[in-house]
Amino acid sequence: ATVVLAYSGGLDTSIAIRWIKEKYDLDVIALTIDVGNDRDLPAIAERANKIGAVKSLIVDARADFVKYFVWPALQAGAVYEGEYPLATALARPLIARLMVEVAKQEGAVAVAHGCTGKGNDQVRFDVSINTLAPEIKIIAPVREWSMTRDNEIAYAAERGIPIPVTNASPYSTDQNLWGRSIECGILEDPWAEPPADVYAWTVDPDTAAAKEPSYVEITFQNGVPVALNGEELDGVTIIETLNKQAGEYGIGRVDHIENRLVGIKSREIYEAPAGVVLLAAHKALESLTLSRDQIRFKEIIAGEYARLIYNGQWYSALHQDLAAYVQSTQRFVSGTVRMKLSRGRCAVVGRKSDHSLYSLGLATYETGDQFDHNAALGFIKLWALPLSTQAQAQLLPSIG
Ligand code: ARG
Ligand code: SIN
Repeated sequence: ATVVLAYSGGLDTSIAIRWIKEKYDLDVIALTIDVGNDRDLPAIAERANKIGAVKSLIVDARADFVKYFVWPALQAGAVYEGEYPLATALARPLIARLMVEVAKQEGAVAVAHGCTGKGNDQVRFDVSINTLAPEIKIIAPVREWSMTRDNEIAYAAERGIPIPVTNASPYSTDQNLWGRSIECGILEDPWAEPPADVYAWTVDPDTAAAKEPSYVEITFQNGVPVALNGEELDGVTIIETLNKQAGEYGIGRVDHIENRLVGIKSREIYEAPAGVVLLAAHKALESLTLSRDQIRFKEIIAGEYARLIYNGQWYSALHQDLAAYVQSTQRFVSGTVRMKLSRGRCAVVGRKSDHSLYSLGLATYETGDQFDHNAALGFIKLWALPLSTQAQAQLLPSIG
C-alpha cells in the first residue's frame, strides 16, 4: 500500500520517507508542489527517489494558487492581525487538495505531511483533508516521532539518508509566490532584532537608500491585477515582477508577534514585497470606487476572512458566503493605481477609474464648486438634534 507525502526536500520530510516505511510499512509517493517555491524541484524529486520513495511527482500549482487563493484574498483585503498577508496559510488548502487528488489517482490509503504538533499548518492540512476526503488517513511523522534536530541528523546518518545541503540554516522557513515566512533560531527572542541572514527577498531598506525611487502602475479588473505599466500580464508574472522590484527597496518586511490557533504567541518574520504593494494599491482603488458604507462593512469582512484563512477553514460554508459577498463588492473595482517605491516604503501617488465616485465638482474649493453649502446648515441641525436633545434631558457630564 502507498501513502502520498507532501515532500519539500527538507530534513523532516526526507527522513519521513524512511520513517513511514519502517513504522507503517507503507511505500511513499513523494509529491512536490510548486507554489512559487523558487527551488530546484527536479533535484528535490530526485532526492526523494534516492532516499527510497517509490515514485516522485512534481505539480506546478502556481497559476491555480494565484487565481483561486491569492487573488480572492487580495480582493477581500485579508491580512491577519493587520500584519501578515497569509502566504503560508493560503497555500495549505491548495496543497491539501492536491494531496487528496493524487492519493485518489494513485489509490493511496493515506497522505502525510511534515508539520509539527504545535503549529497552524497541521491544523490547516488536517482540517482540509478531513473535509475533502474523510476516508483518507493522515500521517504526520514529525508530530508522532519525538526526535530533536540532532536525533534526526543521527537517524539520517545511521540509514545513509542524504541530508539536504540547506541544513545549515538555523531557521524554519516556508515560501511561495505570495510571501516568505521565517521562524525559529534567534527569532524566538522577541527582543532580538532579526539578523540580516533572515531575509532572502528584500534588501535592508537602509542599504537601498542610494537608489532612486521608481514608479509602477497597477491596473485592476474587478479587483484582480491584470497589468503593470499598461502591459497585460498573467498573475504569476505580476507577482514575480513586483516581488523583485519592491524587494530591491526593502519593501514588504513584517516582524509580527502573532496569535496561533493552538493558543500560543509566536514571533514570525515575513517578506511579502508584492503582497504589500498590491494590498495597498487595491485598497486605494477601493477608496475611489466603493461607498463609505461599503468600505466600512468590507473591513469587518476582511478581518473575518483573514481569520478563517489563518485558522484553516478555507473549505467552509462561511468562506463560500464571505467570498460571494467580496466578489459582489469588486464589480466596480477596476482602474489603475500609481505607486511610488522608495527605500522601505511604497506610497500610493495616483489612482483613476472609469467607475470613480470622486467628483471634482463636489470636492473642489476652486471655482466650479457644485456642493450646496446652504444645505449643510440644515444637515448639521438634524445631525446635532439627538445629541443636543440628550445632553439637555440627561445633563451628560462633559468628557475631556
Ligand atoms: N506562522 C505562519 C502561519 O501560520 C507561518 C508558518 C510558516 N511555516 C514554517 N514551516 N515556517 O501561517
Ligand atoms: C509547524 O509547526 O509545522 C510550522 C509552524 C506553523 O505551522 O505555524
